[in-house]
Amino acid sequence: MKILFIGDVVGSLGRDMVQTYLPKLKKKLQPHVTIINGENAASGKGITEKIYKQFLEWGAQIVTMGNHTWDKKEIFEFIDHADKMVRPANFPEDTPGRGIVYLKSNNTEIAVINLQGRTFMAPLDDPFKKVDDLIKEAKKRTNIIFIDFHAEATSEKLAMGWYVDGRASVVVGTHTHVQTADDRILPKGTGYITDVGMTGPYDEILGVEKEAVLTRFLTQLPVRFEVKKNGRSQLSAFLVEVDDKLGTTKKVDRILINDDHPFFS
Ligand SMILES: [Fe+2]
Repeated sequence: MKILFIGDVVGSLGRDMVQTYLPKLKKKLQPHVTIINGENAASGKGITEKIYKQFLEWGAQIVTMGNHTWDKKEIFEFIDHADKMVRPANFPEDTPGRGIVYLKSNNTEIAVINLQGRTFMAPLDDPFKKVDDLIKEAKKRTNIIFIDFHAEATSEKLAMGWYVDGRASVVVGTHTHVQTADDRILPKGTGYITDVGMTGPYDEILGVEKEAVLTRFLTQLPVRFEVKKNGRSQLSAFLVEVDDKLGTTKKVDRILINDDHPFFS
């Protein structure tokens, strides 16, 4: 099974990139399943039902989330029936939504898990303990297990990769918005990258207007962060090929599309 994962979509520029390039990427790479991290898709903070549905219309099958899951109030009205949306599984019991979603493609089932890190982030439940429970649950149905680990610290993301090596098919890191060059297959067969990178404004800072971020650094005063709606943009993604029976990863590829790394069909 080929799985395409598109990294954190930020604001309207990010959404435009998905709409423009997802059909081209699908034509070129022929993924069986496409997953998008959408937690920053609505002006950088959260997601709306309209945007969630657009991602599915444009060709994604699953939308993963992260620390901004709850930023748009309307999420509480639709997350329980958004059965293709995965929010961090290590929120407390009874939190709305789901932390694991199953999807069938060509008679092969994939389990998609979303977890959030705790280093320099909110003190959620232990993601390492939670991943043990979820892998156990998923293994009853399938060997293909995809994890989006939404975390700040590179060390915590690497630790998760090594912790589940040979038990999960893929671990992708998200949240830090800069694509890392450490994509690899771990010794027991888990495909891994510390961060897939961001899909959105190319000439700003992690998707946020650079003037405001610079003012914050230069003055240490509180500044309102906005996401740019015009200018150059980029798309960051990760492609993995997984053995359908064993669930191990056979091939990994980083994808970056911007003016410095143009797309070739
Ligand atoms: Fe995030």
